[in-house]
Amino acid sequence: MRQRHIRNREDILRDCGGYIVEDPKSMKGHWLDLFPGCEGLYLEIGSGKGQFISGMAERYPRRAFLACEGQFNVYPRILQKIGAKGLENLRLISEYITDPCDLFEDGELDGIYLNFSDPWKKRTANRRLTYRGKLEGYKRICKSGAFLQFKTDNEELFDYSLEELAAADLVPAAVERDLHSSPLADNNIVTEYEEKFASQGIKIKYFLVNFT
Ligand SMILES: C[S@@+](CC[C@H](N)C(=O)[O-])C[C@H]1O[C@@H](n2cnc3c(N)ncnc32)[C@H](O)[C@@H]1O
Repeated sequence: MRQRHIRNREDILRDCGGYIVEDPKSMKGHWLDLFPGCEGLYLEIGSGKGQFISGMAERYPRRAFLACEGQFNVYPRILQKIGAKGLENLRLISEYITDPCDLFEDGELDGIYLNFSDPWKKRTANRRLTYRGKLEGYKRICKSGAFLQFKTDNEELFDYSLEELAAADLVPAAVERDLHSSPLADNNIVTEYEEKFASQGIKIKYFLVNFT
């Protein structure tokens, strides 16, 4: 992801660094302790500059949100949004997640968001966030009734992901190949990538899985 220079990035990291979770593995099983008064724990893997997850945290102040992002360059952007909006229900996990089961107890999460995940080439498909092994992990750490929501511009990744759902015995509750023309558009919070692709006329693909 290309970054424009942020003039006061050092200031932002200093002032808002408290929004970064220091030792995420130690939080396994008791994440909600970080969010007094919140009910429900929601994770976005690959938050980029944080437009989506900060929008969600603002819309749902009683829910707890975790932005997970591995790229250091974008941290000031996320932290700036958390700080500017004073979001006490959003924290940043500042690392690449390889196995989410290292960070979350079985049944700990209420929802997972994957927005415009890196497509990776087919030969390294096991790095894709919708690889069947990863889906098995999400199934474990999500409670019954929790969901997985996926959005992408990428047709090939979308078709692949639907196949991987089937391989992991997961049936989508909703599939949209043109999210912005669907009734779901009303409630949709757009991400930075989504804005860019939609403005180029690319249809946004979406699915939702409800875990049983
Ligand atoms: C294509 S960008 C999309 C950003 C944002 N979700 C959006 O829609 O605007 C994908 C982001 O996911 C991050 N990412 C990819 N794999 C990740 C992982 N396993 N853990 C954390 N972040 C990840 C990348 O660093 C990158 O910033």
